[in-house]
Formats: sequence, structure tokens, C-alpha cells
Amino acid sequence: MREFSADYLTETRRGMWSDRDALASLDLAGRSRILDVGAGTGELAAVFAEESDAEVVALDADPGLLGHAADADHRLAGDATRLPVRDDACDLVACQALLINLPDPAAAVREFARVSTDLVAAVEPDNGAVTVDSTVDSETTLSARARQFYVDGVQTDVALGADAADLLEDAGLVDVSTTRYDHTRVTEPPYDDAALEAAARKATADRLADQRPELAAGGLADDAYDDLRAAWREMGREVVAQMQAGEYVRRETVPFYVTVGAVPRDSE
Ligand SMILES: C[S@@+](CC[C@H](N)C(=O)[O-])C[C@H]1O[C@@H](n2cnc3c(N)ncnc32)[C@H](O)[C@@H]1O
Repeated sequence: MREFSADYLTETRRGMWSDRDALASLDLAGRSRILDVGAGTGELAAVFAEESDAEVVALDADPGLLGHAADADHRLAGDATRLPVRDDACDLVACQALLINLPDPAAAVREFARVSTDLVAAVEPDNGAVTVDSTVDSETTLSARARQFYVDGVQTDVALGADAADLLEDAGLVDVSTTRYDHTRVTEPPYDDAALEAAARKATADRLADQRPELAAGGLADDAYDDLRAAWREMGREVVAQMQAGEYVRRETVPFYVTVGAVPRDSE
């Protein structure tokens, strides 16, 4: 199972749901009990708690992350593909950036349909379509190059995005609809600790090294990897220099897709 740190989740979700129009199809105000599967630190569960009077349950395979999900009414350790929850226990079962991390996302969606009496929702990114604009010119092209090899080599479908609709339909859900929601994160002065740490990681190319197995599986040969890593470190040093001059600005946009389906009524 891919592991995530609480800091990473808190940082990458900051401000994500400041605009909640894309969640309208979840009818949050009308919900009684909501299950957030793969809740992590509970960023989406917190939105559910704010937007509804429902009882909100956060479930994750990593109990350490759940310790941060303070806005949920209940926290439950468990596996998305074998939910420790009885049939028809909730009227909304949702996830965010979970299916892209699962070897068998269809099994999870079937579980969501079993546990929900009404709606199932998947908020999933297309990580193959992330865009980066930066005052360091090489950052845009190097990020795109590394991303392409990573998406091709990683073992789960991290570019799932709007294709989650097929999974919901295959699980027997009906009236499936999808809304795109772009999450843009901007790094600009004054830089916080997370931005300074991210710049330092670029200068060492540590994250690229962590992704070496996926990059290789995606077709990046050893000599091409060495070239990419050298260019990445040079780019990182330029990022650090621009930050010291207060000139560095980076804008990253991750397209998310909010896909919602309904459990069919008995008569359908
Ligand atoms: C990218 S994080 C998303 C967390 C949170 N939904 C968010 O958007 O901030 C993926 C989460 O799925 C959890 N996860 C991965 N595999 C799981 C599984 N089989 N069952 C339950 N949770 C799982 C991870 O522990 C992690 O918290």
C-alpha cells in the first residue's frame, strides 16, 4: 500500500474545497450518515461535517492518519475493498484520491454500493494532466517529463480522473454524473516552511530518486534517468536561488473529477 504522511496530505489539500460548487451533486445538506473511505487526515470528512448535519465516519487503512481526522464523528480502521460496515449503513459513501491508489478500485466501488442506500461519490484526480507553471523555466518541462514516465510506470491508475464513472456504472450505480474541479496551488512569497522544504527536496532530487522504480517501469532508461536527475538538481538550485531573491512563483493545477452515482431503487 502506498503510504502518505499527514504533513503531505494537509499541505496538498490546503484550500482545496474553498469553492464547493463541484460537490453540489452529493446533496450534502440532505445526508444522514456519510462514510469517507481512505479519509487520510480527514480533509474531505471535514467538508462533510461543515456542509451537513450528518454523522460523518472517516475510514482508512492507516490508523496513524486517522488520528488527525478530528472533524469526523467516528474513525474506523479498515480496508476499502472489505469495508467493516454492514449493508445499507450510510446514505453517502465517498472517497477522495483513494481509487487511484488501489490495485483493484472496482472492488472498492462495489463495497461502496453495498454500504450505501443512496449515493456513491468518487473525487479522483487525473495525475497525468497536472500542469505546472514556474518562474524557473525548466521546472515546467522537467515536471512534465518525469510525470509521464511515472504515470506510465506506476502500478495503479493514477490518471483515473473522469474514468471513475465507468467503475461506478460497472458496480450497478445509475444516473452517474461527473463534474471537473481544478485544484490550483500557488507557491509565492512569503514562502512557508512547506515551500522551503519542497525547494530543498528539488535541489537534492530526492523525490525523483524515490520514484526511480516507477520511472524505470515507465521506460526511463538509466542514462536518461541520470540526465533527468542532473537537470532536476540544477532546476532545484535555481528554485532555491529565486526564493532567496523573493522571485519564485509556481502554480500547479491538478484536475479532479467528482463522480456521483445512485444506488438503484428496487423497482429499477
Ligand atoms: C492520497 S491519500 C487521500 C487521503 C484523503 N482522502 C485526502 O484526499 O486527503 C489516500 C488514502 O487512502 C488510504 N488507503 C490506501 N489504500 C487503502 C485501502 N485499501 N483501504 C483504506 N484506505 C486505503 C491511504 O492510507 C491514504 O490515507
